[in-house]
Amino acid sequence: MTKNIAITGVGAYLPEKVLTNHDLEKMVDTTDEWIVTRTGIRERRIAGEDEKTSVLAARSAQAALDDADLKAEDVDLIIVATISPDSNFPSVACLVQKEIGAAKAAAFDVSAACSGFLYALTTAKQFLTGGLYKNALVIAAENITSLVDWNDRSTCVLFGDGAGACVIQEADNGSEAKILSDYLHAEGQYGELMEVKMDWRKPLDQQTSEMALPMINMQGQELFKVAVNSMAEGAEIAVKKAGLKLSDIKCVVPHQANDRIISAVAKKLKMPKEKIFINIHKYGNMSAASIAVALCEAVKDGTIQKGDYVVLVTFGAGLVTAANVVKF
Ligand code: ACO
Repeated sequence: MTKNIAITGVGAYLPEKVLTNHDLEKMVDTTDEWIVTRTGIRERRIAGEDEKTSVLAARSAQAALDDADLKAEDVDLIIVATISPDSNFPSVACLVQKEIGAAKAAAFDVSAACSGFLYALTTAKQFLTGGLYKNALVIAAENITSLVDWNDRSTCVLFGDGAGACVIQEADNGSEAKILSDYLHAEGQYGELMEVKMDWRKPLDQQTSEMALPMINMQGQELFKVAVNSMAEGAEIAVKKAGLKLSDIKCVVPHQANDRIISAVAKKLKMPKEKIFINIHKYGNMSAASIAVALCEAVKDGTIQKGDYVVLVTFGAGLVTAANVVKF
């Protein structure tokens, strides 16, 4: 019989430093009104010098462990979704393992941009379903503002830093909570719509000490259209795979890239916007961490209740789309 795997704990960590739209007005040629009407974002968090991605990740992981009432030494697997790791190696997952004291856990990172959390969730679930591991920590952590060009008003207003995590385990006997369906998709032909080019990786004889740091480059309007279609399609497929109808869904937790993208997805799915969880106004787009933090907040503030069917759905640079239907 297939094992039922459930989300048994959630956690989040947000840096304290807040950067408001009014702060950005002093940095680039923009206005609070433009940012709010075009994106829904009012403020975002910025990681401090001592808050590297692994630090954000470890703090959210500890919160999820506490929520699940699980000790770090009982964790078998740590997967961290990130596109802004502390360094190329060691992986953020290994740094987290050391930080929280999860001595027996296997640990690795997943790179799937804003879809990373759900890619990691489905990957971890497979390890548990297959019986190799029992307790997994799935974390999404981003210091994405370190990749932002603070002179480019078309991108710098969009992003923020943060981390979210969940614990997944085999569901208790008699519990109906479980991850019901998974959908992972990639469309590499759209890769150029958003990229961080590693131009500094030149042959040794062409390297200089003044090379520019890699920064986000984005074709916003094109990405907008593809994002709406991919997220709506991903949600529909995941709901169908779960044997449910969209009308059975109590709450949709989408990637938080733009409030207008979220509205367009809701319209395509013919879902009232009240059923869509939104926290983009507080944090901006935290890449992989957005949906992990949103899920944590939706559980903690009571939006998601025991027994609810919930759709998690994301899109990200790649282009990668992912969705899960979860019963809580
Ligand atoms: N403040 C004021 N004006 C601005 C700003 C700004 N911050 N940024 C751009 N503008 C101007 C433009 O220069 C343009 O001016 P013009 O008409 O004189 O040429 C005008 O505003 C309109 O620009 P558009 O790019 O057409 O604005 P749009 O309505 O498309 O909104 C946005 C831009 C918010 C980027 C939108 O396209 C979007 O959200 N796209 C999706 C982006 C996204 O989801 N990225 C994350 C990917 S997920 C991941 O993997 C990390």
